[in-house]
Amino acid sequence: MKKILAIESSCDETACAIIDEELNILSSVVTTQIDVHARFGGVIPEVASRMHVEQISTIVDEAVKKAGINVEDVDAIAYTIGPGLIGSLHVGGIAAKTLAFFYDKPLIGVHHLKGHIFINELLEPLEYPLMALVVSGGHTELVYIENENDFKIIGTTLDDAVGESYDKVARVIGLEYPGGPKIDKLAKEGKKNYTLPTPKVDGLNFSFSGLKNATLQLAQRIERNGEEVNKADLAYAFQEVALNSLVKKAQKALEEYPCKMFVIAGGVAANSRLRELVEENITGVKKILPPLKYCTDNATMIGVAAWHYYHNNKFVPLNAESKPNMSIED
Ligand code: KG4
Ligand code: ZN
Repeated sequence: MKKILAIESSCDETACAIIDEELNILSSVVTTQIDVHARFGGVIPEVASRMHVEQISTIVDEAVKKAGINVEDVDAIAYTIGPGLIGSLHVGGIAAKTLAFFYDKPLIGVHHLKGHIFINELLEPLEYPLMALVVSGGHTELVYIENENDFKIIGTTLDDAVGESYDKVARVIGLEYPGGPKIDKLAKEGKKNYTLPTPKVDGLNFSFSGLKNATLQLAQRIERNGEEVNKADLAYAFQEVALNSLVKKAQKALEEYPCKMFVIAGGVAANSRLRELVEENITGVKKILPPLKYCTDNATMIGVAAWHYYHNNKFVPLNAESKPNMSIED
């Protein structure tokens, strides 16, 4: 059975996985730098690159040993070529290129967000046309996927990504990085007590910076009045507006671009309230809500996506450049 060795290092996880052609996961190893970045309140790019350098060889070695194979046995080496932090991308890129050169294997440069989308194939075959709501720390996009090679961004954020706004609001109410999961948890204890404005953006685009600023100003106003902010209620108010705007735009997108299937992808797809809202409001289409372990960054997703590149002969040369701002349409 053919196998791919895949590496992910675009942000603050260093990961390696070995996936066979039938999408069996022979091994998947992930280390996260979250504890270190939490001390600074967010990812420090230079620190992230250095930590990838420290981890990468051990992680690859561990993945190969856990799979019970030798690197000679794999049929291709895949890595995240973009988007992401440039220094972090370089570390995974150099590791992948070194393996490809030394063992004379084809090299595959995978788009990180395609990884987040294709990992859903571990649950069910994807059906096209497919609509993906991609929600992460760096991206908020509605992607219309006509077939496995044709990705079209039909909606995007005009300012902050939704994960980024979660992280910023969390910081202000004193929650540690990454704030997304903490707001998700805290909001469960919140009630409808504060009102925040719904972002008004035409078409299928999104905007979160106005909502983020309104949340922060509301907190400051309450404190100025000598009252205490109810953090759970504030988390609830922010989250309801942010997530309802995502789901409303997804509904609109599906009306304009009818699809056979709808998937959510990326770190924010782990959000329990978003999953509820999608279950309730996105109807008339097959849906995949990936389990939490597939939502956050890992190398399995890069390996699963890499099979599409492999079967379409999409390989990159050893001098391929990492692309920090790569579009999913490229
Ligand atoms: O996809 P990801 O792991 O990394 C990027 O490619 O950006 O996404 C990380 C983002 C962070 O902003 C984090 O706060 C957010 O996903 N996140 C969540 C939840 N879990 C992770 N946001 C809301 N609710 C969650 N449960
Ligand atoms: Zn990601």
